[in-house]
Amino acid sequence: MKITVLTLFPEMYENFLKTSIIGRSIERGLAEVEFVQIRDFAPGNYKHVDDTPFGGGSGMVMKCQPVLDALDSVKTEDSYTLLMSPAGTPYSQAKARELSKKDHLILLCGHYEGLDARINKHVDELVSIGDYVLTGGELASMVIMDSVIRLLKGSIRDTSTDEESHENGLLEYPQYTHPADYKGDLVPEILLSGNHAKIREWRVLQSLRLTEKVRPDLYAKHEFTEEEKKILKKFKDCE
Ligand code: ADE
Repeated sequence: MKITVLTLFPEMYENFLKTSIIGRSIERGLAEVEFVQIRDFAPGNYKHVDDTPFGGGSGMVMKCQPVLDALDSVKTEDSYTLLMSPAGTPYSQAKARELSKKDHLILLCGHYEGLDARINKHVDELVSIGDYVLTGGELASMVIMDSVIRLLKGSIRDTSTDEESHENGLLEYPQYTHPADYKGDLVPEILLSGNHAKIREWRVLQSLRLTEKVRPDLYAKHEFTEEEKKILKKFKDCE
């Protein structure tokens, strides 16, 4: 997969792209990341990329010309372009899966008060990573890159993403590691039993209960599998 980032601040990505799973995946050639400096497309000596908003108001707005010329310089028929915006569609694990199948992602990052709204029709989608406002799209694009690259074949063991939070619309069950007794705080005994069927049942139940408690919005729209229904019924009957 190729990822092209359009930004005014490519230096923000340096450590991110060198570190841990993302660094290794890039080193292995699973993803190739390139940067386009939007300012290189601004004319004149001053290289202005932004201007004051029509109608008044505070802050500066990024101009159509440098942004769209930068975009045109990298866009091909295979590209899928995302504009980072707090006014975009909420980002999700399902979207990460979908994006991980694309050949070429273009991530367009605005800065300052935002981008001229006429730019929107030149991208495939506006994406928001949450209901808060960042100073620019760079951190949002890193969130997208991280969540997509780790899903690429060969990035991490395929099975290790299957049971994660959000993969099946639920939060993941709690995990524990050694020691089994940490200053008197014990790991649930069932996990030490070696009984895989019982462990599986416990994990499914924990995942359901945690989601119901912490994310009632996810729980309300969850489509229960036959296994989940059976486990819920079994434990309800016990209570
Ligand atoms: N740019 C500024 N805030 C953002 C957000 N929440 N998501 C995506 N891009 C942004």
